[in-house]
Amino acid sequence: MPTPVATETPPPPVGKAVRVTVNGKTVAVFNLDGTLRGIDAACTHVGGPLERGPVAGGVVTCPWHGSQFDLATGAMKRGPAARGVTSYPVRVENGHLVVELP
Ligand code: FES
Repeated sequence: MPTPVATETPPPPVGKAVRVTVNGKTVAVFNLDGTLRGIDAACTHVGGPLERGPVAGGVVTCPWHGSQFDLATGAMKRGPAARGVTSYPVRVENGHLVVELP
């Protein structure tokens, strides 16, 4: 059963992303035109910071070597990463991000 974990971080503005740490796990939270998406912040290639990557069409590009991940599912769209990242449901409660961990 998913565990909702509250943070002290407000949601990022539209078109931006933030990195939050929940129960020792780093999650990149993106605001896509008001829809929040959460995925592992560390790229599965060698740990690039995905919250700093450019986003287009619901896909983030790792700023280090260009791997791409679908923000809705975490699925890998392009290497050099060999696998996708985990995605997490994210919502806002009382002005702060809440991330649901599996
Ligand atoms: S660390 Fe992300 S593509 Fe290399």
